[in-house]
Amino acid sequence: MKRVTTVDDLRRQLAVWRGAGDRIALVPTMGNLHAGHLELVQQARQLADRVVVSIFVNPMQFSAGEDFDGYPRTLDQDIIRLSDAGADLLFQPGEAEIYRRPLENETLVEVPNISDILCGAFRPGHFVGVATVVCKLLNMSQPNLALFGEKDYQQLLVICRMVEDLSIPVEIRGVPTVREEDGLALSSRNSYLSLEERARAPSIYRVLRETASAIIGGDKEYHRLEQMALSRLAEAGLKPDYFVIRRAQDLGVPAPGDEELVILATACLGRARLIDNLKLSAM
Ligand code: PAF
Repeated sequence: MKRVTTVDDLRRQLAVWRGAGDRIALVPTMGNLHAGHLELVQQARQLADRVVVSIFVNPMQFSAGEDFDGYPRTLDQDIIRLSDAGADLLFQPGEAEIYRRPLENETLVEVPNISDILCGAFRPGHFVGVATVVCKLLNMSQPNLALFGEKDYQQLLVICRMVEDLSIPVEIRGVPTVREEDGLALSSRNSYLSLEERARAPSIYRVLRETASAIIGGDKEYHRLEQMALSRLAEAGLKPDYFVIRRAQDLGVPAPGDEELVILATACLGRARLIDNLKLSAM
């Protein structure tokens, strides 16, 4: 696997591959790679000739008081995992390569409405940081396609909307969430959980599944289902930020007749903020 740290070197290598007719996939990450990220690389290998992975812990998407400084950085281990997974190129820029100016003077990309609800309401500015860095990474590498995990479902929709609105010539692919055997969605932040918290963490997926079963069974009282789920999460010792049933396409509140739904939940457990979702068809 090749490794580059500058946009010039990235573009030089990509020009060679593009010149040979290769199709290029980008997998943007913040490192601390787990099986969920490696699944993105596997999918990318099936869809493209060359797989580029970026590792950049993006300061712009962390609010003051969040875990930017303590975010797990495991570069040596990440490099071994990416080589074993068959990535062709690691783009590992320093902060000055991505942001040429102090962050407050940078041009921002803001995707309205969808960025301010759910996680965006609890993490003001988070999705501006995500959209801005993803826009930059797409412009720097100009891939044919880019892959993102469906675990961060709202992030995926923000990125799709940005690509559509800004006419960025790239195909965005969502890849299904990879889970532990007990259902816990893989996340870099799971490493913050103590043993006792880890044992309680799968309750978020269990409550998502129970709610999905109720909807599939014909229960349409979504507000009541949301309230019941919040109580169940609290009983399991989690502190939920939200548990909502929304339209899968745009996260709007479902109207009668809307069938493609997504249930989204976020809850704090110790130092970790767990996030998960489940898509379903309410026929
Ligand atoms: O999902 C992530 O790891 C990050 O939000 C992303 C998409 C790499 C942007 O920094």
